[in-house]
Amino acid sequence: MIYLNGQFLPLEEARVPVLDRGFIFGDGVYEMIPVYSRRPFRLGEHLCRLQASLDGIRLANPYSQAEWERLIGELIARNPGTDDLSLYLHVTRGVAPRDHAFPADVVPTVFMMANPLTTPSPAQLEMGVAAVTTVDNRWLRCDIKAISLLPNVLLRQLAVDGGAVETVLLRDGFLSEGSASNIFVVSQGVLLTPPKSNLMLPGITYDVVLELAAAADIPHQVRPISEAELRGAAEVWLTSSTKEVLAVATLDGQAVGDGRPGPLFQRMYRLYQEFKTKVMRKGSV
Ligand code: PDD
Repeated sequence: MIYLNGQFLPLEEARVPVLDRGFIFGDGVYEMIPVYSRRPFRLGEHLCRLQASLDGIRLANPYSQAEWERLIGELIARNPGTDDLSLYLHVTRGVAPRDHAFPADVVPTVFMMANPLTTPSPAQLEMGVAAVTTVDNRWLRCDIKAISLLPNVLLRQLAVDGGAVETVLLRDGFLSEGSASNIFVVSQGVLLTPPKSNLMLPGITYDVVLELAAAADIPHQVRPISEAELRGAAEVWLTSSTKEVLAVATLDGQAVGDGRPGPLFQRMYRLYQEFKTKVMRKGSV
């Protein structure tokens, strides 16, 4: 079952008018919330980021936090069978005659769906994955989780074309993020990641990894990372709600470190899985 504008219905029955501004302009924002053991992880943080994205595109939030929580709970309840889900929610500026300017008095379109959560395969975890790099040619509001993902789609396809799983983006000689993930590197024994800014999405998984690093006394710094540091890194990791923490084994065909997931990755992966069992599955943050 999916949720569309106040109704729960089968996906095949869901219809959106072609003049929806999401379809015409990509005028909307979204969230992807992982659900573990039927409990949405960091729902408050995801709803807070949704609010920031809505503010970023000047669209009033159609629901209160309590309403979102209730609807998300109901969507999970209506999708029995799988305990771990990826919950996608999406708000567009609604249906109106095509004109770039905001329409007056339009009702936003709200869509939500829940799919089984697919995390990296055992082989990917053991061997790491291939990534490629390219220039980050997206706009300057990458902190907004916008549904207009054409730049990310094109960037990600470069990875697929090169037999890789992710494209790591560099802007003005510095690491920004991946096409659908945040990036961490290990350099001289220190875990590094770029500071949140308008140039990247403030990842919820990014926050978790930094918290786990702090709690485990892993030396870490949040600071700009140059292209040279990225290329010379002993380890490179991707983080996202669906990839969790995943090691990059090759970058543009060159081995990262010794070309296998490194020791700090192994440690962080264990910490993350432990956190998942003890915290995420219990519904606490
Ligand atoms: N993407 N950066 C970008 C550009 C992303 O699209 C994502 C997530 C992230 C990581 O954010 P989080 O840790 O909150 O998942 C960073 C989701 C999974 C998607 O588009 O499917």
